[in-house]
This record gives sequence, C-alpha cells and structure tokens, in this order.
Amino acid sequence: MSLPPPGPDAAVLVTGASSGIGAAVARVLAGRGHPTVLVARRGDALTELAAELRAVSGQVSEVHAADLGTDAGLTLTRDLLDDDSVVGLVNAAGFGVTGRVADLAGDADRRAALDGLVRLNVLALHDLTVAAVGALTRRVREDRPGAILNVSSITAFQPLPGAASYAASKAFVQSFSEAVHAELAGTGLTLTTLSPGLTRTGFAEAAGTDAFDQVPDLVVGEAGDVAEAGVAAMARGDRSVTPGLVNQLSAVGGRLAPRTLLLPALRAGMEAFGA
Ligand SMILES: NC(=O)c1ccc[n+]([C@@H]2O[C@H](COP(=O)([O-])OP(=O)(O)OC[C@H]3O[C@@H](n4cnc5c(N)ncnc54)[C@H](OP(=O)(O)O)[C@@H]3O)[C@@H](O)[C@H]2O)c1
Repeated sequence: MSLPPPGPDAAVLVTGASSGIGAAVARVLAGRGHPTVLVARRGDALTELAAELRAVSGQVSEVHAADLGTDAGLTLTRDLLDDDSVVGLVNAAGFGVTGRVADLAGDADRRAALDGLVRLNVLALHDLTVAAVGALTRRVREDRPGAILNVSSITAFQPLPGAASYAASKAFVQSFSEAVHAELAGTGLTLTTLSPGLTRTGFAEAAGTDAFDQVPDLVVGEAGDVAEAGVAAMARGDRSVTPGLVNQLSAVGGRLAPRTLLLPALRAGMEAFGA
C-alpha cells in the first residue's frame, strides 16, 4: 500500500477540488477516512464540498482558495505540503483550450488562455509535484508511506490537432510522472498517473467545446468512476491507470499508430467537432 491507513494524521491535498474529477477524488478519499486539504480558485465551491464531506463521511477538510496560475497561489499551496499531517497530493487542477493554433494566435483572450493552460497544466503541476516529492520523502516511514496522483489524459498518448497545447501538456504530465514513479521505487513514496478519457465534468464548458454532446454517451465516463479508479491505483502505488476499455484501446492506438495515418484522421475528427 502506498496511501497510509486513514486517520486524522493522513490528510491528502487535492488541487482542482471545486468541481469534476478533483471534487470526486476528494469524496472518494473522505469516504476512505482521509481528511482533505482542498485547493482551487472558487472558495465558495470548496466550502460547500467541505461541508458535504463532513456531513457524509465525517471527515474534516481545510479550504484554501488559490490561483495556481500565479506565484502567490503556488507558494501558498507548496507551504501546505509542509504540514506533517499531509501524506498525499492529487494534482487535478487543469483545463483545455480547443482550436487551431493559427486561429488562437490572433485572438488576445484565447491566446491568454493558451498561456494559462501551460502555466497550470505543466508549470504548476511540475512545481507542486517536485515540492511534494521533497517534503514527503523526508517524512515517509515504513509504517507511514506517501502517495501522489497526477491527472493526465488519454490525449497524452498522441499529438492532437485542434487541441495541440492541451495534448502536449498532458504528454508532459505523463512522461514526467512515469519517470518520477520509477525514480521513487523503494522509497515508500509513490507517484501514480491517472489518464481519463472524456469525462462529464465542467471541462467541456471551460474548454469551450460541445464535443461531449456529439459523441455517444457510452464514450463519456462519470467523474465518480474515474476518481474511484484513480484513488485505488494511488493507494496501491501503481505507475498509471487509464479507466475504461475504450480509453485503454485509445491509449494503445495513440502510442502505436503511424503518425502519417493518425494525424490527418485526428485533424478531420477534431474539425468535425468544430475545433
Ligand atoms: N473531463 C474530461 O473529459 C477530462 C479528460 C481527461 C483529463 N481531464 C483532466 O482532469 C482534470 C480535472 O478536470 P475536470 O474534467 O474535472 O474539469 P473541471 O470540472 O473544469 O475541473 C477543473 C478544476 O481545475 C480548477 N482550476 C482551473 N484553473 C485553476 C487555477 N488557475 N488555479 C487553481 N485551480 C484551477 C477548477 O477550479 P476553479 O475554477 O475553482 O479554480 C476545477 O476545480 C484536468 O487536469 C483535466 O485536464 C479531464
């Protein structure tokens, strides 16, 4: 096991906990008996979730409103990892931007969103993972291991025209996290990568796409199921998990398919979705 037994001194910090997969992960952790430290920009949504977790699971939660796209937000969150009761970190905060780079480049707002995407999905996740590895390796003992869960995506496994920066940001998350998982072998601390496919959350609205409405329901997963799979893998200290057979096939296909065939097909598919 890599998450220590639950208890008041086995708290897990979750970023992106105000909605979607991050909120669902916090619910699963609280259900297992872990206190949580909830981080996102929307403090009111975090406070609401903290009340729910106390009522449903009897677990306490700390709430910290922080923008992880800023130095101040990152410093605040990094400092929270120094608390001795924290045994785990879940990096779930992230968002996507769709559209061709040529179109995004000419629109000041969308260009700013693209820069924000790299700051949050890549720089903030990297910064907090490095901080957590430093803090937790100093604290882990044989009877008290530690665990990190980084949320990637099946877009990590191939380039994606129409969401080029997003897929590249998740390729960074996947590669970095899998490498650190190997580095940590035998230390008592583990790093697991969770790579979901399309999941019903606030993601589509934030990314400005209605692609989720255009695909069969069967292909779109639920945040609760993704969170269960992620936390179970984190607790075991697995290297990575991709929930759902369709997503697992997509991940293998994305890794193995010749780029000369795959890229035009993906471009046509994303154009059909208006990206
Ligand atoms: N949904 C999918 O289809 C899907 C598929 C694969 C991977 N993922 C990944 O899953 C993760 C969670 O996304 P989701 O699907 O759950 O979407 P979501 O419901 O939109 O949640 C995104 C979370 O990130 C937080 N966030 C955004 N910008 C932030 C910032 N600057 N500072 C701090 N927190 C910020 C949001 O909180 P505030 O707005 O309150 O800050 C929210 O809690 C992301 O990394 C995403 O890339 C999603």
